[in-house]
Amino acid sequence: MNRRRRIYEGKAKILYEGPEPGTLIQHFKDDATAFNAKKHEIIEGKGVLNNRISEYLFKRLGEIGVPTHFIKRLNMREQLIREVEIIPVEVVVRNVAAGSIAKRLGLEEGAPLPRSIIEFYYKSDELDDPMVSEEHITAFGWANPQEIDEMMALALRVNDFLSGLFLGIGIRLIDFKIEFGRQYENDMMRIVLADEISPDSCRLWDAKTDKKLDKDRFRRDLGGLVEAYQEVARRLGILMENKPSESKGPRLVSSNKP
Ligand code: TMP
Repeated sequence: MNRRRRIYEGKAKILYEGPEPGTLIQHFKDDATAFNAKKHEIIEGKGVLNNRISEYLFKRLGEIGVPTHFIKRLNMREQLIREVEIIPVEVVVRNVAAGSIAKRLGLEEGAPLPRSIIEFYYKSDELDDPMVSEEHITAFGWANPQEIDEMMALALRVNDFLSGLFLGIGIRLIDFKIEFGRQYENDMMRIVLADEISPDSCRLWDAKTDKKLDKDRFRRDLGGLVEAYQEVARRLGILMENKPSESKGPRLVSSNKP
């Protein structure tokens, strides 16, 4: 039974109307897609893991003063978020050559970049999210120069913080994609981090072995995606070993008296 109004359905998430004006419910699906959904599979458990991992990372980023759309996690698959106007630009930050930059510039995957590089992609499924420059973004009015500066500054703060956080648990943050939205409150507008940050939207390599702990396991048919996401969650200290909401009936709870 689901009487909530569906606002938007994407490849990996659904947005529903929230309980109060200005809020939405973000629901994480098990769908995995790549190459603009030309490759598609249902991977049981992925949505639950991404909900939990994204919650954790958004909360930690909020604590260091990065404004985000996140309000609270509601259940295994859903979180309450603030409604924002999504800026139709994907912001990618890269620390190490991998994926499309390796291909485009003929770099060896795994080669450190001279410095962190920010790229912009125009959010358009029909066009396969083409890479664009600040010139395109301002000329077409997707964001103004001040908003671009704000997104770049926030993206670098997110990169610094997450690089350190992941390195502390033996994971290298190779690159990631984030999205921003405009949050309107009274007469004010501010740019906030939106969407999600999860192994779907990052490249995460084990620091010792270079094992991929992200969606490249699906893109490249390496297998073991859920196990890899679980490993990330375990190292972050947030893995729920038994999935309470997915159990079929009441479970015996031991009293565990000392
Ligand atoms: P790329 O190397 O394929 O351009 O990807 C860069 C980063 O952005 C990588 O961490 C994966 C992430 N990403 C998304 O989250 N969504 C996308 O649609 C694409 C193409 C990449």
